[in-house]
Amino acid sequence: MTYPQIKETSNFLNDLTNKFEPEIGIILGTGLGSLVDDIEVAYEISYDEIPNFPVATVEFHSGRLFFGTLTGKRVVCMQGRFHHYEGYTMQQVAFPVRVMKLLGVHTLMVSNAAGGMNDLYKLSDLMIIKDHISLFLPQNPLTGPNLDELGDRFPDMCDPYDPALVSMALGIAREKKLSIHAGVYVSVPGPHLETRAEYRMLRMLGADAVGMSTVPEILAARQMHLRCFGLSVITDMGIPEKLEKADIAKIIAAAKKAEPNMTLIIKEMIGQL
Ligand code: HPA
Repeated sequence: MTYPQIKETSNFLNDLTNKFEPEIGIILGTGLGSLVDDIEVAYEISYDEIPNFPVATVEFHSGRLFFGTLTGKRVVCMQGRFHHYEGYTMQQVAFPVRVMKLLGVHTLMVSNAAGGMNDLYKLSDLMIIKDHISLFLPQNPLTGPNLDELGDRFPDMCDPYDPALVSMALGIAREKKLSIHAGVYVSVPGPHLETRAEYRMLRMLGADAVGMSTVPEILAARQMHLRCFGLSVITDMGIPEKLEKADIAKIIAAAKKAEPNMTLIIKEMIGQL
């Protein structure tokens, strides 16, 4: 995806929204879309009406972009994201984040469903992402000619997840008496779940949770110097000795159960930003 395409899409959205200028971008993961109910929506648009947005696959049809206010802040929120396993390139997966930057976003908040590998974690627990491992991804959104208008060729990854936002989330969880973890998220391409040997290996490498999203968007966001925050909901357990057959209905149910607490934390954080 080229800089003129990103510019064209942001110009289109600026025209559509009378230059709404969102400050905060939000990407909602699988089963976690109901935060939009709390947004005072000013504009709403389906992905397939947005120029240069990746064309929807069969699997993926309900994506919508919302502009509105949440606890007094102007936000742009993606309900539904693009995954590499659906056939999109990593550049396509990261495209909406590029557009958010041009719209004026300074902070990106991302949620996802993930498999828990730390045996202190339970189903429907929340994990603040304090760091990630990207090296298993088959492609990188930063590959190709660098978009010099947007960021550096070799962005550092010292603190991909803003330490002050991690502390803020921990403080909010403490105040609201919610149990929460902070851990390392490893991204894998999917779409299959992991074998026992793979979960064991990923755990040994230092990851607490594993999932098929988030990292491509964060890599592009960090290259553009957006402040990032990520929250995983543990929707299944990747403990080799206790591994159960994957059940998508159970994964969605575990996400739904955690959704109110996730929504509460994200709303409180946005209020404090
Ligand atoms: N592995 C990979 N991705 C996932 C998982 C998992 O166990 N759970 C939810 N997304």
